[in-house]
Amino acid sequence: MSLNLGERCGLVMQSDIRAMSIECARMGGINLSQGVCDTPAPPVVLQGAADALMQGSNTYTHHTGIRELREAIAQKQRRFTGVQFDADREIVVSAGATGAMYCAFQALLNRGDEVIVFEPFYGYHVSTLRAVEAAPVFAPLDPSSGWSLRIDDLEAAVTPKTKAILINTPANPSGKVFSRDELALLAEFAIRHDLFVFTDEMYEHFVFDGRSHVSMAALPGMRERTITISGLSKTFSVTGWRIGYALCDERWAASIGYFNDLYYVCAASPLQAGVTAGLRELGDEYYLNLSAEYEAKRDLFCAALAEAGLAPHVPQGAYYVLANTERLPGATARERAMHILRESGVASVPGSAFYHDGGGENLVRFCFAKESHVLEDACERLQKLRFS
Ligand SMILES: Cc1ncc(COP(=O)(O)O)c(C=O)c1O
Repeated sequence: MSLNLGERCGLVMQSDIRAMSIECARMGGINLSQGVCDTPAPPVVLQGAADALMQGSNTYTHHTGIRELREAIAQKQRRFTGVQFDADREIVVSAGATGAMYCAFQALLNRGDEVIVFEPFYGYHVSTLRAVEAAPVFAPLDPSSGWSLRIDDLEAAVTPKTKAILINTPANPSGKVFSRDELALLAEFAIRHDLFVFTDEMYEHFVFDGRSHVSMAALPGMRERTITISGLSKTFSVTGWRIGYALCDERWAASIGYFNDLYYVCAASPLQAGVTAGLRELGDEYYLNLSAEYEAKRDLFCAALAEAGLAPHVPQGAYYVLANTERLPGATARERAMHILRESGVASVPGSAFYHDGGGENLVRFCFAKESHVLEDACERLQKLRFS
């Protein structure tokens, strides 16, 4: 037989995250590797989906999502960011933010287009770019100065093929929350080089220490060139429901919607109804509590990391923390993550998973989106770590 896998398979390898989860399950450990929040979903969201299911919401919906959901998303976006999107023409509900991003890349990027991505990066961003045969070009965020960016690094990354810049705020894995000033700098850069901006704002409601999330599309002159990606996986703790969306000017949204139709047809209809109920009925206090709740988890977990000798890069938002593993035995991030798992039963992700070329070897990433008793157990177990 001379049959082979398609060449694209080499571009999208199984992530370290999944590999660590498998190993952790085999050992019966605590899995802080994957971004799966096991905190409960709001009852109103569950009830909304259950009602829709019992009332026979079983058929395909409009390919960009049910109108009620698009309206609820438009309203929430206006309420939190001040940016207005047309529910009929500028919102595409997809199979999670992951689906929305894939459709947006398909619709707007050509083979060989370069997209600037900050490093450390979220692996799906890079793999999804590669899957559409676009080329990620990396710009560093500096861990020694709170993940600051340098405009010179961005200028150095620009070529005639540069088509877009990708931002993730609050960021996975660094926890960086881009300030308004930083976004203004990036906006000026994008306008000057005539670039699209893809902005993944999945963790928009996870911001700590009194910070606020600033949405790129809200900056002057940016709405027309920005594709905002977000979703309800994290905000409502429903990662398995697969409901996310893209928000952008109608010039781009129609084609993003066509790809969504082609790949997914539509998002699951009763689950669209569930998140609609949540968006309509949960008030500001829900979102404020979310940040407060996760800030407390961050504080608890980062204190435990520091005590265990794994100095944390304390995150400003999202629900991951990169910790320094220099003092642990092992030559690579993967060996050190395995050491942590074997010694304490806590799974993390090797930092190298977030760098393209030999970076991150002194880091591991933990996800702290866990119920308190699980997190407390993990904190205790980490104190057992031995150093070389
Ligand atoms: C930055 C970022 N974007 C998107 C996603 C996935 O979102 P969804 O579940 O809506 O596909 C994640 C999940 O970990 C993430 O960390």
